[in-house]
Amino acid sequence: MELGRTVIICVALISFLVVCKATKLNPVILVPGDGGSQFKAKLNKPTTVASYCIKKTDYYYDLWLNLEQLVPFLIDCFVDNMRLVYDNKTRTTHNSPGVDIVIPGFGDTETVEWLDHSRLSLTTYFHNIAEGLVSIGYIRNKTLKGAPFDFRKAPNELKEYLKNLKTLVEETYYSNGNTQVVLLGHSMGNPITLYLLNQMPKQWKNKFIKSFISLAGVWGGAMKPIRLMISGDNLNIPIVKSKNVRIEQRSMPSTAWLMPSDEFWGPDEVMVVAPTRNYTLKDYKQLFKDINYETGWMMWEDTHKLLNPLRAPGVEVHCLHGVNVSTPGVFVYDNKTWHDGFPTTIPDEGDGTVNIRSLLGCQRFKTQQQQPVYHKTFNGAEHMQILNRPDVIDHVKNILLGKS
Ligand SMILES: *[C@@H]1O[C@H](CO)[C@@H](O)[C@H](O)[C@H]1NC(C)=O
Ligand SMILES: *[C@@H]1O[C@H](CO)[C@@H](O)[C@H](O)[C@H]1NC(C)=O
Ligand SMILES: *[C@@H]1O[C@H](CO)[C@@H](O)[C@H](O)[C@H]1NC(C)=O
Ligand SMILES: *[C@@H]1O[C@H](CO)[C@@H](O)[C@H](O)[C@H]1NC(C)=O
Ligand SMILES: *[C@@H]1O[C@H](CO)[C@@H](O)[C@H](O)[C@H]1NC(C)=O
Repeated sequence: MELGRTVIICVALISFLVVCKATKLNPVILVPGDGGSQFKAKLNKPTTVASYCIKKTDYYYDLWLNLEQLVPFLIDCFVDNMRLVYDNKTRTTHNSPGVDIVIPGFGDTETVEWLDHSRLSLTTYFHNIAEGLVSIGYIRNKTLKGAPFDFRKAPNELKEYLKNLKTLVEETYYSNGNTQVVLLGHSMGNPITLYLLNQMPKQWKNKFIKSFISLAGVWGGAMKPIRLMISGDNLNIPIVKSKNVRIEQRSMPSTAWLMPSDEFWGPDEVMVVAPTRNYTLKDYKQLFKDINYETGWMMWEDTHKLLNPLRAPGVEVHCLHGVNVSTPGVFVYDNKTWHDGFPTTIPDEGDGTVNIRSLLGCQRFKTQQQQPVYHKTFNGAEHMQILNRPDVIDHVKNILLGKS
């Protein structure tokens, strides 16, 4: 009799503990980076760049990412649908004429786990991290959320999104029994998250935010966007001409926003070597003039102060990034490649996309805030591959389980 009762009490206690532990998981919101959200488009275009481009659709189709569109010749149609048009009076951008774009799936994880609807493994984004979190008890669309956005734009044009993200944090907190939320960003998702946290009052952050986990954060810009502006990047698809995709790449204010910051690069450091002159950070205006893209200068003017000076988020930070991957440092153009061809590159240290000094920017938060800032590097974790590395995923799980 006595024994039976003890057993029952123990079982009750154990299940009570299990329940306690399960409810202790802090919900997570995934904030993707540049290229990390799906786009759907519906067309009713006045003109197309080529006769074989589709002019009108009655339905929304997958614009990004859609591997079928990235084949030569179709890519020109894609570029024309994806590009933004800058209005130099209002200093804002809008979609290419006759292109209606929606970013599907806000709040859920599906459209940030996979970039392509077909779920080809090639286009996995947050999927492996999501699977890792599900394995420790997370539930998609309940304790695990996603916040896709129009990654072509910088925060000055993302007011609606930032408002929705704030609301998503609050809703996620309340719908999980007043449990604080973890924001998990990748790449440009980190400066976006930081921008939101910088705007929010201390009381809001103390109430709603548990911590900010940053993967491969771009804290002070990177060199790669400079190449996107000057000559474009063919995304390593040999048959694609950089110059053709450049139209879209340089039309994104986010590209201007992610150019190297003067808090991280010195005024006399040569960034671009051209046949007749060199360019440093002080020469951005001249650089845009010389490449015949003065819109780029205006976009830089619109965006460069958004996170400069870099200010701590005022919440607990876990800053994780790769090291030891060759990363573009300086671009060298000769008479033949300036400025429509592909430059040679003098390598720098980093994660393959972001230069090390920018990745390390989170360390500056340590002296700016009381909340802890944890920093961990992963040898050889390339900018995109960091999302799939088992050691990184294990570390994220440990943070969320309170073991790290
Ligand atoms: C603004 O755009 C208009 C139309 O594209 C152009 O004619 C004008 O030169 C531009 N102004 C500036 C200051 O770039
Ligand atoms: C996710 O949750 C929201 C609200 O809780 C709901 O409206 C939506 O249908 C859910 N999505 C899926 C795919 O279950
Ligand atoms: C440009 O920079 C390179 C490397 O720093 C240097 O060797 C070269 O002399 C510079 N050229 C000019 C025109 O200043
Ligand atoms: C490149 O062009 C510049 C200016 O036109 C000229 O002075 C220079 O000699 C050229 N260099 C080469 C290697 O052809
Ligand atoms: C970079 O890689 C080398 C060789 O793989 C290794 O010895 C070194 O410790 C690595 N550096 C860092 C910072 O991880």
